[in-house]
Amino acid sequence: MKKYFVAPSVLSANYLALKDDLTAITRAGAEWIHFDVMDGDFVPNLTFGPKILADIRSESNLHLDCHLMVKIKNRSVESYLVPFVKAGASSITLHYEALTPEQLTEFLALRTKLKIKIGLALKPATPLIVVLPYLAQLDLVLIMTVEPGFGGQKFLPAAAKKIKELRGYLDQHQYPTLIEVDGGINEQTGLICKNYGVDVLVAGSYLFDHPDLAERLQGLLANETN
Ligand code: DX5
Ligand code: ZN
Repeated sequence: MKKYFVAPSVLSANYLALKDDLTAITRAGAEWIHFDVMDGDFVPNLTFGPKILADIRSESNLHLDCHLMVKIKNRSVESYLVPFVKAGASSITLHYEALTPEQLTEFLALRTKLKIKIGLALKPATPLIVVLPYLAQLDLVLIMTVEPGFGGQKFLPAAAKKIKELRGYLDQHQYPTLIEVDGGINEQTGLICKNYGVDVLVAGSYLFDHPDLAERLQGLLANETN
């Protein structure tokens, strides 16, 4: 039976009651937490950095899945990522579109150098082909099914088709790379992604601030496809 991971997105949590939200998602069976870092440049929104991540790490042993929607300027990729690693990141995903070719090469080498799991994220309009040469060096590929920047947006079905294409490619080459989907995930859209072969479902607004959070999360974890 295939195992799915659900990564509740801290972006939609109540920051004044973060501890309670962490407890609720952990009790409901989440094994990952999704942590969206935005810089107001690559995306038109700003969020948080390593300090909050370290505070979360001090309360949680879950996989801290960091999704960095940032452009790195005038410094090395390593110097940007080290504070997140020190804060307890389990995996760090950068956007393919945000990286220069030199930064991409440096990022791939940090997997071994910093001993972290790494991923590349693709915006809805970015074709899958750009990441295919790097699959052997990636722990995950994050398929965005909304434009990065905000929670609560509508799932883009055309972008989700990349999951199916990538699943075929990974299976054919027997790569263990995980496929993660992010944006507009709920019971129905989650099922579409499961049918396409996803491994990790990020969900923000669908989970937080709902009295039936546990039920919703367990529904996403359930091994059900059409
Ligand atoms: C959006 C973020 C998502 C966001 C998803 O740029 O990357 O992780 O939290 O939120 P929902 O699940 O509400 O679409
Ligand atoms: Zn995200």
